[in-house]
Amino acid sequence: MISRSTIDKVFETARVEEVIGEFVQLKKSGSNYKGLSPFSEERSPSFMVSPVKQIWKDFSSGKGGNVVTFLMEQEHYSYPEAIRFLAKKYNIDIEETEQSNEQKHQADERESMFIVSEYARDYFHETLLKSDQGKAIGLSYFKERGFTDETIEKFQLGYSLNEWEAFSSEALNKGYNLKYLESTGLTIVKDDLLSSTGTKHFDRFKGRVMFPIHSMSGRVLGFGGRILINDKKAAKYLNSPESEIYHKGNVLYGIYYAKQSIAKEDNCYLVEGYTDVISFNQAGIENVVSSSGTALSENQIRLINRLTKNITILFDGDAAGMRASIRGIDLILEQGLNVKVVMFPDGDDPDSFSKKVSNQELKEYLKQNSKDFINFKVALLMEEAQHDPVKKAGLIRDIVVSISKIPDRIQREVYIQECSRIMDISENVLFSELAQIDKKEQRDASNRPVQERGSEPVLQKTPQYEQVNELQKYEREIIKILLLYGNNEVDFVDYVAGEEADDSDFLPIKKLKFSNVVSKEIYLNLQDDEVEFTNETFQNIYYEIIYQLNQEESISVDKLVNHDNNEVANMVTTILMDDERHVLSDWERKDIFIKSKKSDLSKMVLDAIYNIRRILIEQKINSLITDIGVEEERDKIMESIRDYNNLKYRLFERLNRVV
Ligand code: CTP
Ligand code: MN
Repeated sequence: MISRSTIDKVFETARVEEVIGEFVQLKKSGSNYKGLSPFSEERSPSFMVSPVKQIWKDFSSGKGGNVVTFLMEQEHYSYPEAIRFLAKKYNIDIEETEQSNEQKHQADERESMFIVSEYARDYFHETLLKSDQGKAIGLSYFKERGFTDETIEKFQLGYSLNEWEAFSSEALNKGYNLKYLESTGLTIVKDDLLSSTGTKHFDRFKGRVMFPIHSMSGRVLGFGGRILINDKKAAKYLNSPESEIYHKGNVLYGIYYAKQSIAKEDNCYLVEGYTDVISFNQAGIENVVSSSGTALSENQIRLINRLTKNITILFDGDAAGMRASIRGIDLILEQGLNVKVVMFPDGDDPDSFSKKVSNQELKEYLKQNSKDFINFKVALLMEEAQHDPVKKAGLIRDIVVSISKIPDRIQREVYIQECSRIMDISENVLFSELAQIDKKEQRDASNRPVQERGSEPVLQKTPQYEQVNELQKYEREIIKILLLYGNNEVDFVDYVAGEEADDSDFLPIKKLKFSNVVSKEIYLNLQDDEVEFTNETFQNIYYEIIYQLNQEESISVDKLVNHDNNEVANMVTTILMDDERHVLSDWERKDIFIKSKKSDLSKMVLDAIYNIRRILIEQKINSLITDIGVEEERDKIMESIRDYNNLKYRLFERLNRVV
């Protein structure tokens, strides 16, 4: 673990504009910098960096944050990876907190395995390019398949000699530990009573071309090796065994080369094989990964989900394989990804097809032939079941099961409508089938141990929903005021009702002047009304601010921007950057007047507080109205409603008067 003090030092030293400047061309614009968003294709800049606040905001994708979150978005680093990157850039020594011996041992073990694997990658690559056998057999094979030198270099392809222990001996000679050669699976160790050490060892990959398999951050986790001769008994591909660093189900071949392109294109192509990934890259399509011949695992889907919500599955042109994979796709839908599929002509896989057409034609083909998965599945199955009512019933159930996996209710509804049309069956039947599956699913879920399921009820556009929305608008406003002006002391001007004159409805209004720190004024008011924010992120930010006020008597925006809770950090950045947006459009230069909000801070604060109070009162009145049905309480309820209405009226008055 990196120590807290190192992390603090990194944050103190790193300049967001310097770091981002390495990835994005930034132009000074007022007190900020602006540039083209690295997360989307755009021609006019909507990406902004504030050196003063040490934050960035991408208005086109909505992303934003501090220097570390930028690296996490841009380079897909984990948090510690980003910290290490910055420490290196700014020459900061990394201090590690005490690890238990067990942890230390495990970290050392993994690191040693990486080092051995990276040595093997280099060795196999050298062998491919430099040795006679490598050139004659391995390199000529790759060339025959149409791989260019750049491609071979990019994917660090290699060759393992057709000998029993060429690699293992060389590695041992170089001082690599047999233990790690064995735990990575590169070397197979067997007992041998005749040998002086009691064991013998030989290479796992023998006479094969080698494909290193990389992690998201480019480390070598394992290898796939393809045999070059036709041998019915030997597997075409041999892969590294499961190990401390290689878990087949957590890895996607090509992800290291694809991550940026996936995020940028907002789509991920999924293919079956190593060579499909490589050929697509060579054809200029980088957002492609392979699950290496198996159905996608949940962890693999999660990996993609971090980069995009859209996945396009490319099927080889053999129908049997496709039919088998279709079931696995429900798992992808379940994680809320949008799935499209593309079929290739009979006998072609993405690799072979890409070799037959130009790069432009390939892109065009993908665009023309990608079909929404559900529609595709319906069409495919309908073909089979056309004249068979029993089959058709089964198929309908099958499709509805797929649809039931989609977490987004609105999207589900759209699909039901669409399917009803294609399958010529009433929407009602489909909806009731869906409801049944949902019910069963819920029953099953309640029998399962606790586990969150991603199907939140969608808020409908009811008056209640509108109110929640309006409330959150003011909650945001309160947070914004706290962030921007929370530490300011302000002269408040308020108007309150004077003593009630007993013979008239007329309430004299008294002008009140007082001075207070903004954060304190807000805190006192919200506490008075026992206000809880309805938006969880706002509530979290608010708690954090209260905590800071208790500790330091002032708000530290820095700490919020750099908060461990990503949602907090992101929301704070977004709110802080609200006001910078106008700079992007050069409003100032075009002489469009931008009102300085600071001048009417008092009004702003009181407005927000009173509006929240007003909405809460309205909610109270609404709930009282629904209670009226209860006979015996009616008079009391009516009286309460009158009271609340009065209160509301006074609030309106104050809202109008606060100038
Ligand atoms: N695969 C594997 N073990 C095998 C066969 C296949 O791990 N014995 C995995 C590999 O990742 C392979 C993928 O499944 O890339 C797809 O298999 P296949 O379509 O048979 O191979 P291709 O990728 O088309 O390879 P090639 O073009 O070299 O024949
Ligand atoms: Mn192939």
